[in-house]
Amino acid sequence: MTDFAQLLVADRDQKARPIYLVDKDGLEAWLKKRPAEDRALLAAQRFDGKKAYDFALLPRGNEFEVVSAVKNSAELSPWCLAKLAETLPQGTYKLADGEPGKAALGWLLAQHEFDSYRAKKEEPERGPRVLITGEAARIDQLVGIAGATALVRDLVNTPAADLGPAEIEAAVREEAKAGHAQVTVTSGDDLAAGYPLIAAVGGAATEARAPRLIELEWGKPEHPRIAVIGKGVCFDSGGLDLKPASGMRLMKKDMGGSAHALALARLIMAQRLPVRLHLLIPAVENAVSGAAYRPGDIVKSRKGIFVEIDNTDAEGRLILADALAKAAEAEPELIVDFATLTGAARIALGPDLPAFFTSSDELAAAAEQSSREVEDPLWRMPLWEPYDEMLKSDIADMANAANSPMAGCITAALFLKRFVPDGMNWAHLDTYAWRDQAKPGRPKGGDALGLRAINELLERRYLQR
Ligand code: BES
Ligand code: ZN
Ligand code: ZN
Repeated sequence: MTDFAQLLVADRDQKARPIYLVDKDGLEAWLKKRPAEDRALLAAQRFDGKKAYDFALLPRGNEFEVVSAVKNSAELSPWCLAKLAETLPQGTYKLADGEPGKAALGWLLAQHEFDSYRAKKEEPERGPRVLITGEAARIDQLVGIAGATALVRDLVNTPAADLGPAEIEAAVREEAKAGHAQVTVTSGDDLAAGYPLIAAVGGAATEARAPRLIELEWGKPEHPRIAVIGKGVCFDSGGLDLKPASGMRLMKKDMGGSAHALALARLIMAQRLPVRLHLLIPAVENAVSGAAYRPGDIVKSRKGIFVEIDNTDAEGRLILADALAKAAEAEPELIVDFATLTGAARIALGPDLPAFFTSSDELAAAAEQSSREVEDPLWRMPLWEPYDEMLKSDIADMANAANSPMAGCITAALFLKRFVPDGMNWAHLDTYAWRDQAKPGRPKGGDALGLRAINELLERRYLQR
């Protein structure tokens, strides 16, 4: 695990290489304040300050200074220093003017690598790039968010063979230990009796990868209760409605929702948010065997609603339904769920924008504001009630999928909504949890999308800043 705390340290007048940030039109003005040779040095490196992430080095004797282009030097983005942190040599650096603020996050995450499966670690001799900040009070928060993001990335990147329901449980227990929280795990006959949909979806997996509901409770009883839920499908083969090869290739990431939920739980506990936290992770493998649940099967859910299985590949909403029902029984003030729920959400919004659903305009406005503040985008989608009839079943109360793929992420969200009591505050994030193309500080592979936005939402809601 990357030691992020070592990479962002408080200013104690340490010796540090200065980093100058210039934006598109700022280079000329900046050069006027500099030694004359700098113009030639920058020209030799073809640095014109116009391309974000571009940078150049300015030798000063045996040392050097750094100048880097940013979109807006007055308002730094979380990622504007990431390329520097990826590329600069080991050493200590400091912004020449101002504080890094939220840009420290990209500095930290750029130095996190998932290399558990490489015999030869890349550049093992390269040491840390340390950033100095004058805002000592923000260090813990930034280091915490970097750590939570790295946790999501690592869990999602871990192959399904090495991350089954038992390993998801182990990860929850580790966080519970650090936060002094209680863990309850329901499996076997108790799962079949109490959470029939979770048991049905996980029924085909081998004994060692048996389905379970993992719950973590933390916080003081007098604080407002919140539930955080994450889809924990450690591998989604589609079940008997088997996915084609292309659709299955990335399905180790189908536990991405649970990784987000667990990372959020870590953040809540670490910053001692005044809430009573209830984390629920239904953890299953959607596998194929003689014990697999079938299209046409009807399962009576925890809530009592009979669900006809139209498609075994619409498994996420099934396991979430029983978890939502359980969460609602404790009458929380707010429920948030994260899930890699539909391909349709990706068709609608692409890989970078989680689809955000809630019936509450107030919650939606707060989430949008938080999302903008931390530059972790979300996009609200409608819980369009008239589409609810797409989920009708000929013989049961409802089906788990519609006949048509149209508005697939909306019908999935409407399915979940049936398991949330009317009027209860509920937010649902249909997230990709993956990055197909690397960007500075964000390598290709598992990623947290929506985590920082929801963390900010909770901080604003419960810390009353
Ligand atoms: N895990 C998938 C959704 C998914 C696919 C997320 C690709 C991200 C990328 C989910 O369980 C699923 O298979 N959903 C189906 C539902 C359909 C059968 C109604 C889908 O979206 O096609
Ligand atoms: Zn599926
Ligand atoms: Zn799935």
